Amino acid sequence: MKFERDLKRSDFPFLGFGVGLRREHYSHVLETHPEIDWFEILSENFMVAGGRPLEVLDAVRDRYPIAMHGVSMSIGSADALNRDYLRQLKALARRIEPAWISDHLCWTGVDGRNLHDLLPLPYTAETVRHVVSRIRTVQDFLERPIVIENVSSYLAFRASTMTEWEFLATIADEADCGILLDINNIFVSAFNHRFDAIAYIDAIPIDRVVQFHLAGHADHGTYLLDTHDHPVRDEVWALYEHAVKRFGPVSALIEWDDNIPPFEVLIETANRARDIHRRALAVQHDAA
Ligand SMILES: [Fe+2]
Repeated sequence: MKFERDLKRSDFPFLGFGVGLRREHYSHVLETHPEIDWFEILSENFMVAGGRPLEVLDAVRDRYPIAMHGVSMSIGSADALNRDYLRQLKALARRIEPAWISDHLCWTGVDGRNLHDLLPLPYTAETVRHVVSRIRTVQDFLERPIVIENVSSYLAFRASTMTEWEFLATIADEADCGILLDINNIFVSAFNHRFDAIAYIDAIPIDRVVQFHLAGHADHGTYLLDTHDHPVRDEVWALYEHAVKRFGPVSALIEWDDNIPPFEVLIETANRARDIHRRALAVQHDAA
């Protein structure tokens, strides 16, 4: 079944400021119902027939909005789309009714091998056609639009004929899907490839952006590595403020996947995003 096209951000709810649901915090979340606006789950962790993960998820879903975030769609790969994976993804979405489903603008393997890495694509017209056609197939199968995220990268293809932001914006427009803009990934890739992060943000179509990611990275001197194991850096907060001024009210999510801190630290970080968001939009109102 084909769904109605011409996606707008207003098709998606504004969820506020959330954090990733991680195993380390299951008990805390279930027992104390902390004050957080929403959770993002890693879809693959819950694509199972039953057991504790799904019990936890159902209980969390009873109290909080949830978005599903995947790492295995491999939308850019030359392999055929994995129909079993898509069937399981659709079944999970039926169960928890997420605010949206996202995955990455990347490939994670080829010839049936999963490399468990989010690998960048060559930015060419041919890749655009390939990825757009696959996103449309996935959206028709899932009967809903999907949201694609920019990945961080450490190499570039000589074959590329456009910038990363032209590539992302063109694919989102032609596939009619949403964008999850990872502010930290833009910062990391801008440093690694020496491009202007502000120019990237300013080139992304406003009505396509339905979510931001904020995360910490590791600084290796000559390059930055997207590790999700540090606090968000001040420069990334500054970039986030710029993004809020451009895109307006967009749901934001703190990603922290390693060296996971106590839940209170995640709440403080989500609240810092809330404060910056309020300040950025209040300044805009004052200026209007
Ligand atoms: Fe991300």
